[in-house]
Amino acid sequence: MAILKVRIGSLELSNPVIAASGTFGYGMEFAERLDLAAIGAFSTKGLSLKPRGGNPMPRICETPCGMINSIGLENVGVDAFEMDKLPAIRKSGAKVIANFFGETEEEYTELARRLDAMDGVHALEMNVSCPNVEKGGIEFGSDPAFLEKLTAGVKKVCGKPLIVKLSPNVADIKPFAKAVENGGGDAISAINTLKGMSVDVKTRRPRIKRVIGGLSGPAIKPVAVRMVYECARTVKIPVIGLGGIASLDDALEFLIAGATAVQVGTMNFVEPGICQRLAEELNAYCEKEKIADIASLIGSLITE
Ligand code: FUM
Repeated sequence: MAILKVRIGSLELSNPVIAASGTFGYGMEFAERLDLAAIGAFSTKGLSLKPRGGNPMPRICETPCGMINSIGLENVGVDAFEMDKLPAIRKSGAKVIANFFGETEEEYTELARRLDAMDGVHALEMNVSCPNVEKGGIEFGSDPAFLEKLTAGVKKVCGKPLIVKLSPNVADIKPFAKAVENGGGDAISAINTLKGMSVDVKTRRPRIKRVIGGLSGPAIKPVAVRMVYECARTVKIPVIGLGGIASLDDALEFLIAGATAVQVGTMNFVEPGICQRLAEELNAYCEKEKIADIASLIGSLITE
């Protein structure tokens, strides 16, 4: 077996394939389709202090090579997560990344404090990049100085690895990656969805009730690979790459461009077992290519 272990701060993952937030529920929904302990980790749907109902329907539509969503951060809330979801997840042996967001700095900090104390949560992923809400999303990830302050404040109450999920809806992602590192964040995940829109020409109505949503899936992969490459050259902390991964080659692209790990999102809806399949294919690939340790693949891009 090749060594596929990677580190995200103090957390060691058995392999670098992670199921992305918002596409994997709270984990157990997928337990019949794959072995949760066989993937690197999964990231929960974004959690808030109180439960949220999300945006009005329709809030998902298919697009060529992708989809647009405007879920609006619907979730069960942190109390129900702890009481109703976490006990079963703990038994599954999964590595759990709790994705979270607040509407104020205080809410971000309070959630981080709560999640950090939970047995069965291994790392936190701070969402500052949701394009679908008025408060508690991208507004927190649109100013590098503010992002650095938010990250530092959250990190003060959080002993577990803190991953910050960045938005691609900025002119230049590099200052945001630097802000996370300067604020003491342990890793970056990039990218969240790209703002997009789709119109039904028969009805002349937007396919998403809120008109604009977040585009994900293979359509955004080249943008994501480029941004991961830029982030990885800017910071020393690990970068977790996501955006349109649908195959082993897609995952390899991100790793070679500099990602320490990858997240698979939209394709979980098409093939619920894809994360385990990609982890197995990555192992077979390393053995075939005589790559003893995945570390030698990470950032191995040749540019001259
Ligand atoms: O609308 C949503 O719940 C999406 C969240 C995100 O992209 O972070």
